[in-house]
Amino acid sequence: MTTTAIYPGTFDPITKGHIDLVVRASKLFNRVIVAVAINPGKEPTFSLQERVDLAKQTLSELNNVEVCGFKGLLVDVAKQNGAGVILRGLRAVSDFEHEFQLAGMNRKMQPDIETLFLTPAEQFTYISSSLVREIAALGGDVSDFVAPCVEAALKAKLI
Ligand code: COA
Repeated sequence: MTTTAIYPGTFDPITKGHIDLVVRASKLFNRVIVAVAINPGKEPTFSLQERVDLAKQTLSELNNVEVCGFKGLLVDVAKQNGAGVILRGLRAVSDFEHEFQLAGMNRKMQPDIETLFLTPAEQFTYISSSLVREIAALGGDVSDFVAPCVEAALKAKLI
């Protein structure tokens, strides 16, 4: 039985949709590792350290949740941390094709690690980090989508 799950993403920045998923996962697994990818391909707005720090602040009340940054292959980080499950969120059908590909590749590289999908609560299904960044940069209110510390960081970075 696996007791550790790893939840990877770019988290640029972490949103209430991500948090909703981590809370659900924290009830299913003994240990949940939120793994923040360096992901240079996405040219993130926040540095890796900033994204890790914001995730840590946001998730500090969940005792069985850890946050780490990583570069390199996700399956290697999962293996090193004893995680038998990769968690991903599915918000809409449009997420499926990309997620199906990632899950397939990860299984090919590491057959004994399973990918498990969770769906966020309905009110978070349309949130994405890039839309949150766009709204914040244009002076919109993002308080429904991100935690107060993330809202402050977005204002400091983008406005
Ligand atoms: N709530 C809100 N938003 C969510 C969400 C949720 N529950 N789940 C996903 N999203 C959003 C993200 O905010 C992001 O939005 P954006 O594109 O507007 O920024 C989008 O959905 C998907 O981003 P993310 O979850 O970060 O996935 P990704 O596709 O950018 O990253 C990795 C995927 C990091 C897991 C993948 O690139 C990886 O594993 N990298 C490591 C290297 C590796 O192993 N590569 C081989 C893979 S086979």
